[in-house]
Amino acid sequence: MNPVVELRRDGEIAVLAVNSPPVNALSAQVREGIVEGIRQAGADASVKAVVLHCEGRTFFAGADISEFGKPPKQPMLPEVVDFIEASTKPVVAALHGTALGGGLETALACHYRVAVPSAKCGFPEVKLGLLPGAGGTQRLPRLVGPERAMEMVTSGSPISAKAAKEMGIVDELVDESDLLASAIAFARKVVAENRPLKRVRDLDDKIAAARGKPEIFEAFRKANARKFRGFQAPEYNIRCIEAAVNRPFDEGIKLERQLFQELVSGEQSAAQRHVFFAERQVWKIPDISDDTPTLPVKKVGVIGAGTMGGGISMNFANAGLPVTIVEAKPEALERGLGVIRRNYESTAKKGRMSMDDVERRMGLLTGSLKLEDLADCDLIIEAVFENMAIKKEIFSKLDAIAKPGAILASNTSYLNVNEIAAMTKRPEHVLGMHFFSPANIMRLLEVVRGEKTDKRVVATAMQLGRQIGKIAVLVGVCHGFVGNRMLEPRQREANRLILEGAMPWDVDRVLYEFGFPMGPFAMADLAGLDIGWSRETSKGETAREILCEQDRRGQKTGAGFYDYDENRNAKPSKLVEQIILDLSARKGITRREISDQEILERCVYTMINEGAKILEEGIAIRSSDIDIVWINGYGWPVYRGGPMFYGEQVGLGKVLDRLRAYEAQYGADFKPAALLERLVAEGKGFRDL
Ligand code: 3HC
Repeated sequence: MNPVVELRRDGEIAVLAVNSPPVNALSAQVREGIVEGIRQAGADASVKAVVLHCEGRTFFAGADISEFGKPPKQPMLPEVVDFIEASTKPVVAALHGTALGGGLETALACHYRVAVPSAKCGFPEVKLGLLPGAGGTQRLPRLVGPERAMEMVTSGSPISAKAAKEMGIVDELVDESDLLASAIAFARKVVAENRPLKRVRDLDDKIAAARGKPEIFEAFRKANARKFRGFQAPEYNIRCIEAAVNRPFDEGIKLERQLFQELVSGEQSAAQRHVFFAERQVWKIPDISDDTPTLPVKKVGVIGAGTMGGGISMNFANAGLPVTIVEAKPEALERGLGVIRRNYESTAKKGRMSMDDVERRMGLLTGSLKLEDLADCDLIIEAVFENMAIKKEIFSKLDAIAKPGAILASNTSYLNVNEIAAMTKRPEHVLGMHFFSPANIMRLLEVVRGEKTDKRVVATAMQLGRQIGKIAVLVGVCHGFVGNRMLEPRQREANRLILEGAMPWDVDRVLYEFGFPMGPFAMADLAGLDIGWSRETSKGETAREILCEQDRRGQKTGAGFYDYDENRNAKPSKLVEQIILDLSARKGITRREISDQEILERCVYTMINEGAKILEEGIAIRSSDIDIVWINGYGWPVYRGGPMFYGEQVGLGKVLDRLRAYEAQYGADFKPAALLERLVAEGKGFRDL
C-alpha cells in the first residue's frame, strides 16, 4: 500500500501494520497509509474489524516533530483521527512501547484499545510547548475526568498501561508475548459479541460533574503556578480541558485547533522543539560512534566527601555501582557519609524510596582514609578543593596507585585539565567530569576532553553519564569550560550595573522575569557571599566584599544583598542600597537610570558573545550543546531554548549591533566575537556551522 503501512488479513480481521522506524512517528507517509488502510478495510465487505498495530519498538510515539514549522502536508493528523473514529467497522488499537502524543490521540479515536502491561501512554506535547492537537484534549477528559486529564497534559509524564486500564483509557491488558495475536482475538470478540462502535467523543459521565465549575480549574492553576511560571503551553492545555467540560465536542475541537496553531507557530514551542533535538544531538561526537569501544567501569572511586564528592558518589550508588570515597580526615569522612545517609533517608521519608533502598545504596559506599584503597577502581573522580597545586599532587599520587587502564577524572569547574593530566604518565586516561551542585540532582555533566584524552575514555565518560541519568555534554579545555566561562560576563555586567545605577533587585527582577529561577544576586546570597573570601585579604572594593566584612554573608547569616526573614523570604535592603550608593561615589561613578532592556542585553548578549567565542575555539561541538549546558546546569528557561538559540531568535544582527553600541560606550569587554561578525555578514546562524 505504501512502504511503511501495510494492510494484511487474518480471516475477517484486517491488520493495519505500520513500520516506520525508529519510533513510528506519524509522518505524512504514515498518515496517508492509515487513511488508505481504513478506507480499503471499510470497502471490503469481508472485513469485519481492523487492528491498528505498529511494528518495532513502539506504537506511534507521536506526531513527527520534524514536520512542525514546515508547510503542512495532507492529510493532517486531526483528519486522520476523525477518519478512524468515523469508521463503520470497529478499529482496535494495539499498544506497546510508548503511545505518546498524536499516537495516543490516534488510539483514542479507535473504538477499543488493548495494551501490553509494559506499554506506557501519555501526552508529552507540553514539553514541546504544545498541546495535544488531534483531539486529545477533548477525548482524554471524557475518559478520565478533567482533573486527571489536566494532570496528564500539563505534566507530560507518561502513565503505565496498568494505570491506563484503571482509568479507562485502555480496555484490556493482554499478554506481553503476543500483542498482535491478542489484539486480533480481542477484535474477533468485538465482532462476535456485536459490540457497539464505542466513540470516546460521545461519552459524558466523566465530565458532567465538573460542568459549570470554574473553581476546579482555578484551583489547579493556583496549585501549579510556580511550576508553570513563564510557560505558555500549560495554560493553553488547561483552557482546552475546560472547553471539553463546558462546550460541545466540536466546539472544543475548534478551540483546541486554534490554540494548537498559535502554540506551534510561536517562539516558545520553537525553542522547546529545539531543546528536544538538542538533547539528542549532544551524544553525537564527530570522531566517536557506537562502534567506539568503551572501558568497563564496575567500581568507582571518589576523592573528597564534601558536598560535591558526596553528591557524585550518590549518582553511582543510585546506578548500582560500588563507590569508595576517600577523605583526608576521619571526621570529614564521617560527616560526608552522614550527609549522604540523611539525603537518602529524606527521600525515603517523602515516599520516593524504600528504607531497603537506602540501606542497599549505603551498602555500596565504602569510606576510606587512604588513596591506596582506590587501586582497584576503574574510574576515579577527584572532587577536592578547587586548587591547582592540590589537584596536581593528587593526580601524581593517583598515577602511582591506580591500576593500568583506570580512568582518572577531575571534577574541576575551571582548571586546565591538560596541566592536571600532565602530572601522570597516562594523560590519555585523564579527563574532566564536571558535575553541578547538588551533584545527585542536577542533570548536567560537562565531560572535559583534554588534548591527549583517548576517545575510548571520552566515549566511556559519555556513556556513564547516560547510565547515571545525566545529560553529558562534551567540552574542551579552557578556563571555566562552557558553563562557567559564559557565567563570567553575566556576573561582570551584573556587578557593573549595580555600580552604574541599578540595584541588585533590579537586575534580579529582570533576569527572573526573563525566566531564570533567580537572579545573580539572590543566587549569590543562596550560595554564600564568602565563598573564596577572607577577612585578611578583603580589599573592600566590591559590594560583595563590603557585605562580607559586615557579616552579611548571604541567606545563612540572614542577610546579604537582601534582608531575609525567618522563612528566608528576601526583601530589598536600605543598608545595601546605601553601601552601593557610597561605593559608586567612592569610585567616581555618576549613577544613572538604567532600563530593564539594558540590564537584559548586557547580561545576556555578552553570554551569547562568549558562546560564539567558545564555538570559534572549538570548545563546544555545536551551538545547541551550549544551550543544553545552560538549560540543565544554570536554569536557563527551556522556553527560550538556550542562549545561542535565543540569540538567533532575537536575530544575530541585532545582538551584534547592540554589542557594538556597548563596545563604543564601555569598551573591549563588548567586542563582538569574530564568528558573530562573520555569521551576520554571511546572513547565517550558529546552526549553519
Ligand atoms: N518525531 C520525530 N522524531 C522523533 C520523534 C517524533 N515524535 N520521537 C523520537 N524521534 C526521533 C529522535 O529524534 C531520535 O532521532 P535520532 O536517532 O536521529 O537522534 C529517534 O527518534 C529516537 O528517539 P530517542 O533517542 O528519544 O529514543 P528513545 O528510545 O530514548 O525514546 C521516545 C523514545 C520515548 C519515543 C522518545 O523519542 C520521545 O519521547 N519522543 C517524543 C514523543 C513526543 O513528544 N510525542 C509527541 C509529539 S507532538 C504531537 O504528537 C502533537 C500532536 O498532539 C498533534
